[in-house]
Amino acid sequence: MAGLCFDMYGTLCDTSSVRTRLGEALDVPERLVAAVDETWRRKQLQYSYQSAQMDDYEPFWEITGHALDYALAAYDLDPTPDTRERIRSAYDRLDPFPGAVEALTRLGEAGHDVVVLSNGNPAMLERLAENAGLAPHLDGVLSADAVRTFKPDPAVYEHAAETLDRPLDDCRLISSNAWDVAGAGNAGMATTWVNRTRDPPESIGATPGRIADTLPAVADDLC
Ligand code: LAC
Repeated sequence: MAGLCFDMYGTLCDTSSVRTRLGEALDVPERLVAAVDETWRRKQLQYSYQSAQMDDYEPFWEITGHALDYALAAYDLDPTPDTRERIRSAYDRLDPFPGAVEALTRLGEAGHDVVVLSNGNPAMLERLAENAGLAPHLDGVLSADAVRTFKPDPAVYEHAAETLDRPLDDCRLISSNAWDVAGAGNAGMATTWVNRTRDPPESIGATPGRIADTLPAVADDLC
């Protein structure tokens, strides 16, 4: 039995569920909502890499806010501070992917240690885990915040292994983010890539150890 480290945003929970909140808050055409959403997510990841590389750490909640500000400015949108806050708080209420609770429950019952390992800071992760109904099925929520950097910095995967008190290769990162899988593999973790959209793997970093197309398929594979 292993330490199973699940990525949160895009793996257990669906980041595209912010689109509904964006649409309600901005009251602009659907196409513009989709463009803001896409830019927001892309900048959120880019800012996390940049802040880690510049050694200028800020918690992921702040990074998410900066990325939202960029996405709004890119499309000449200027909502009130209240509306901007309402949009950002969509990250507290993402939908879990189908089968998330079932997969976590089965893996826990099979004897694995089942935790989240995310770039999110602890407060935002705890709010989401609670709201999405995942919290009761997790043995812990581990955050990159503990080492003040972001995945795919090896320090984050090493921190998870230390916390779980297991060697790195006895821990498995389970993520839909190909870059996360490549980074965890490079750091020495076993990996499962949840490839829902049949993307090619990253061409740098480690290749995925295992590939599944849904969360229940991850449980089928590891139970
Ligand atoms: C996570 C995001 C970055 O770490 O996918 O949960």
